[in-house]
Amino acid sequence: MIWSRRVDADLTANRLTTTLRALRAEGRSIVDLTVSNPTTAGFHYPLGMLSGLADPRGLVYRPEPLGLAVAREAIAADYRRRAVDVPADRIVVTASTSEAYSLIFKVLCDPGTEILVPRPSYPLLDHLARLDAVVPRFYDLEYHRGWAIDFASVERALSPAVRAIVVVSPNNPTGSRIKARELEQLATLAAERGAAIVADEVFVDYELSKVEDAGVPLDGGPALTFSLCGLSKSIGLPQAKLSWIAAAGPSALVDEALARLEFAGDAYLSVSTPVQEAAPGLLETGRVVREQIQTRVAANFRHLAESVSDESGCTVLEAEGGWYTVLRVPEIASEEELVLSLLEKHGVLTHPGYFFDFQRGAHVVLSLLPAEDLFRDGVSRVLRHFTCTPDGA
Ligand SMILES: Cc1ncc(COP(=O)(O)O)c(C=O)c1O
Repeated sequence: MIWSRRVDADLTANRLTTTLRALRAEGRSIVDLTVSNPTTAGFHYPLGMLSGLADPRGLVYRPEPLGLAVAREAIAADYRRRAVDVPADRIVVTASTSEAYSLIFKVLCDPGTEILVPRPSYPLLDHLARLDAVVPRFYDLEYHRGWAIDFASVERALSPAVRAIVVVSPNNPTGSRIKARELEQLATLAAERGAAIVADEVFVDYELSKVEDAGVPLDGGPALTFSLCGLSKSIGLPQAKLSWIAAAGPSALVDEALARLEFAGDAYLSVSTPVQEAAPGLLETGRVVREQIQTRVAANFRHLAESVSDESGCTVLEAEGGWYTVLRVPEIASEEELVLSLLEKHGVLTHPGYFFDFQRGAHVVLSLLPAEDLFRDGVSRVLRHFTCTPDGA
């Protein structure tokens, strides 16, 4: 059988997964600090939140490749909540942010062309690019008491084959937000090469520290720009399968991009009518879920920052937003050995930095989503590893 190289990943389970399975099979209880699913993290979802899905308007199928007006207008109103002005007719509705990436790659990239992706960042980006036969190239985020784009690495990676520069803001897992001047610089570089900016803003609502440049401005910079967002993070409802793209930049390019996205979207028509009809209600009632997540991630982040002492040799890296945080740890073992011993000796599951392509140092990534008591328990287990006797007693 000849398989496509689009799926060329190692499909065997890694050591962390096999160890976790074995410990769970033995009945060990594990504190999971890798939680990414908000629907099982103890938040209160209002009863009747999904009642809009039963609206009889959902019984009529009106295929609209860019999305139904009711959903596009509700999403435009949601941007206004964040003081960002995007006309509804520049919004494209998709079933997920992953699908949004895929549609954008389809209209921008030919097989073998390239996109620039930040490093460290969200590991799925690599797979999403390859599944569309696009080659990911990396630019670096550097940490010096805060994260910043290493523009020398951008220049090195920018080849004539680059069709898009991806920014993730706030970034997963660094929690860093792109600064206005960084975005201007990237947009200029992109526009000079006929490339676009793809700004993944799924965590935009989650603030870990005060910043001036909270969101990507969509008021017409020099480059064609796509902002990506969705209900999976904005109201903690990944199963609703509703995300979106907002297009901005030079008008002629935006019009052309929308026409091409309409053509590509028409081949799939993947967003259900009921969820689009329910969008205004979901965005409204979802506010209470968002507020709970905001409160929890900020409280967990504060707790971690207050708990990490110099004695542990660990440092909580500065973060501005999102659901994840990075702990820089002493380089006494490989990251894999470290997360395995955290799991086996201390019963706490964390992610190693190399899952996210950290280029140097030793890091573990912690989710800020777990309930406060679980998070505190997990953090004390992690820190015990660094402050106790070498055998981890
Ligand atoms: C940075 C980032 N973008 C996109 C997604 C996926 O979003 P969706 O569920 O809408 O596909 C995630 C999920 O964790 C993410 O971390």
